[in-house]
Amino acid sequence: MKNFCFAFIFTFVYCLTIFAQNGELNIVPQPKSVTKSQGEFKFNLKTKIVAADETGRKSAGILNDLLMKSYGFKLEFTGKTPNKNAIIFATQNTSDVKPNESYTLSIKPKNIEISGNETGQFYALQTLMQILPVNFKGETKLPVVEIFDEPRFAYRGMHLDVSRHFFPVSFVKKYIDLMAQYKFNQFHWHLTDDQGWRIEIKKYPKLTEIGSKRSESHEGRYSTTFKGDGVPVSGFYTQEEIKDVVAYAKARKINVIPEIELPGHSSAALTAYPNLGCKENYQYKVQQTWGIFKEVFCPTETTFKFLEDVLSETIALFPDSPYIHIGGDEVLKDFWKESAEVAELMKRENLKDEHEVQSYFVRRMEKFINSKGKKIIGWDEILDGGLAPNATVMSWRGEKGGIAAAKAKHDVIMTPSNFLYFDYGQGDPQYEPLNIGNYVPLETVYGYDPHSKELTEDEKKYILGAQANLWTEYVKTPEKVEYMVFPRMLALAEVNWSPVESKNYADFSRRMNRQYQSLDKQAVNYRIPSPNGLQNVILGSVDKVQIDLKPMIEDGKIFYTIEGGEPNENSKLYDKPFEMNLKPNETAQIKTIVVNEKGRKSVVYSATIVRREKLKPIELNDKKAGVNLRFFKGNFKNVKDLDAAQATETIESKSIQLPQFADKTNKLKDAFGAIFDGYFYAPEAGIYEFQIEANDGARLQIGGESVIEFAGSNDKLTTIYGIVPLEKGLHKINLRYFQTGGDAVLNLRWGIKGTGLRRIYGSELFH
Ligand code: ACM
Repeated sequence: MKNFCFAFIFTFVYCLTIFAQNGELNIVPQPKSVTKSQGEFKFNLKTKIVAADETGRKSAGILNDLLMKSYGFKLEFTGKTPNKNAIIFATQNTSDVKPNESYTLSIKPKNIEISGNETGQFYALQTLMQILPVNFKGETKLPVVEIFDEPRFAYRGMHLDVSRHFFPVSFVKKYIDLMAQYKFNQFHWHLTDDQGWRIEIKKYPKLTEIGSKRSESHEGRYSTTFKGDGVPVSGFYTQEEIKDVVAYAKARKINVIPEIELPGHSSAALTAYPNLGCKENYQYKVQQTWGIFKEVFCPTETTFKFLEDVLSETIALFPDSPYIHIGGDEVLKDFWKESAEVAELMKRENLKDEHEVQSYFVRRMEKFINSKGKKIIGWDEILDGGLAPNATVMSWRGEKGGIAAAKAKHDVIMTPSNFLYFDYGQGDPQYEPLNIGNYVPLETVYGYDPHSKELTEDEKKYILGAQANLWTEYVKTPEKVEYMVFPRMLALAEVNWSPVESKNYADFSRRMNRQYQSLDKQAVNYRIPSPNGLQNVILGSVDKVQIDLKPMIEDGKIFYTIEGGEPNENSKLYDKPFEMNLKPNETAQIKTIVVNEKGRKSVVYSATIVRREKLKPIELNDKKAGVNLRFFKGNFKNVKDLDAAQATETIESKSIQLPQFADKTNKLKDAFGAIFDGYFYAPEAGIYEFQIEANDGARLQIGGESVIEFAGSNDKLTTIYGIVPLEKGLHKINLRYFQTGGDAVLNLRWGIKGTGLRRIYGSELFH
């Protein structure tokens, strides 16, 4: 296979003041009110604790546990209040305001005073621990400050999918510990799904005996046929382990919400108990691939009895959780449509379609769960066919479902995938570890506001808060969980906790420096951020650029290459700003890695510099959505061969995608060629990157310029990238493809260079 891409590059920069000046506070999430005064409190090993009541003594015990864990010492208690060098706990009875999580932390020259109820004091201690230096050496001066704090939202959640991959109790506890440090209070534990059932249910032992095991998983993302990785996945939590985790979380002011998925995402349960499905003699299996499956619980009395038993045992394990999550997402209705039992149910209950069957299913479950004194949460699909009367909606397909639910006076938890799916990529997909795709960088998470502008003040009251979700199809290890979650979880902490008026990304970035040190100390495999100042540059007629970089982590070192391959610790060490000169039409690429104090390396961060003008957009008065697609029969060896060929079919296509075409023609196993023609809308000026993934020859032209071209790969899936600088607006796009026989694959993705790539969905295509 031959290939060539027009890829080019380059870079560089300005600087924020990233590092804290002496005495600056670096608290995340930013407290509601911080008033600094002159002076300092000397904290040392002789500092005493004063706690007059049980709540205070409990909090003091927590403080000592935190100090022990972080620094290896404890403070002594004293009975009478000394006139200096003490931490004094004062319990406030704040039970009239619910839930009250507020606290006051006063650092005065003589003493530190902490007041609040038990939860408030707990949060005050998290704040105090962030004011202490990460590397405390026995004595330190703390700034005099008065902090009053309380959260913006009552629900501050993190989710973890333990079905696609299993994570041990020890790691779940580490996850909970980290959540507590950043004042999260809800842990959504996704315990069941198609790929594994992970909660012991005594009455139905086969759920874990059979449903928790799969021999291997699908490897990679794009192969059209199953490719096993040969790694068995199994594991579940015993009821004792679950009680242990729930108690561990409770001690950290975190409620654990179990999710038992129904009626879809139920392959693992159905493999254990096939009689709960609608199909007789059907070979159910614990799924090894990812996606949405037709396997679904059948809405029979046998199934409802089973689920009630499962939920009864589950509820007993989570006695304090007000919520049970019942899933409800992505239910394919095919098996219901074929089922005589479902037809009978629809007649009996007067249900007009399968959406109403789903609604009936969820309402039955809600009634049962409500009867046990608990409320249900469901993914936003539970809106379809009619919402169960008391349900809380978890809005994941954007905010639409959440907005509709709030307008219908239902409680809502916002988890929109485009802001809060932490399985989405954080950077350039060429360098990021395998993930599910898309692009949700730290700044996007930070910029999220759970209060949609589409809601009135009254409707906003139904938004309980926000949660990020970590689905683990491509997350096999605890280290990878940490990579995907950190530092994005800290941005969400601030979204949920801090007043919206105080949000400031530059200041957050500055405060993050201390947090990275703390995460390092706790051996958290966070994603080391890219150097400040590394960015794409289109020089136009200018001939040089100043490269001025700064690591975002203290003591981070930057190593870089310019047109010199992939950087590593033996590459050039960046020590001062430098200039790069480019000739007309030249492009350059600077690639960096950042290495932390412990020698841990970041992924490669690159920037592209081009010295040329951006392509000018085209005015199009009369445009329609989509592109033209010409289809050619024949065995082509080169995209140029299509020039002489006669199109056998010409159609309008909404997108640049073969599957839609395949549905119409069903010819994609034979040799053929295709040309897509139209205009691409660039939403802003910048260096655009395109990616073609295809299993034979392809060529992409933008504005008449060849951006990607490769001449055939003998049916092997190949991924090729190319870049082009574009002005905002419409640009001609032409994509040619040929397939010499076998399964045809053609995927086109685009994005601003260095960010994530997304599929061409159609909304950016015209003809
Ligand atoms: C979901 O991501 N299917 C809730």
